Amino acid sequence: MQRGKFLTIEGTEGVGKSTNLAFVADWLRGRGIEVIITREPGGTPLAEEIRSLLLSKREEPFDETAELLLVFAARAQHLAQVIKPALARGAWVLSDRFTDATFAYQGGGRGLSKAIIEQLEQLVQGDLRPDLTLILDIDVELGLNRARQRGELDRFESEAVVFFERVRAAYRQRAESAPNRYALVDAGKTLDEVQIEIDQVLTSLIG
Ligand code: TMP
Repeated sequence: MQRGKFLTIEGTEGVGKSTNLAFVADWLRGRGIEVIITREPGGTPLAEEIRSLLLSKREEPFDETAELLLVFAARAQHLAQVIKPALARGAWVLSDRFTDATFAYQGGGRGLSKAIIEQLEQLVQGDLRPDLTLILDIDVELGLNRARQRGELDRFESEAVVFFERVRAAYRQRAESAPNRYALVDAGKTLDEVQIEIDQVLTSLIG
């Protein structure tokens, strides 16, 4: 049995991940591919509990290393319960965020060491990396305004614009450093234009 492909979708707040994730899933299913949709942090009941810990606002300051370790704890569970079994039986996995979010938010945003994140990545994932990561890129303020219209802000969404500028820069840098694994999509364009671009990326992935 050939292993399924592992696709992830990333971006700063309000970039249109959900809409485009549904587009990717429909695109693949339309070609007869079995696709599991999942998300991080989360994707299993236990990992979703960790997600609630990470996203809820609280009085107690959240230690940055504790945040980093919780993100990877959720990921270990998600990999063991959902991602690896699905890939092994030949299904494709489409995840709303994965480890690039850790490099962007905990690395870029919080300023934690890239080398340490890489060590945790190796510990938790071994050699498993996404086959393709779509990074939706948008002007930070534009995205934040969109996110704010959705209602109450979570702990990450409440960060300042400069935080998200660092997150965005980290995503862009990752895309530039490995153009074969990443597709950097300008999400400031119209939805039609964005999806034409995604269509081209997926067509070349399928071959
Ligand atoms: P989302 O569902 O809007 O993508 O919310 C998830 C939040 O968690 C988002 O603000 C980014 C953050 N996050 C991290 O900080 N590190 C990570 O590794 C992941 C997967 C998400």
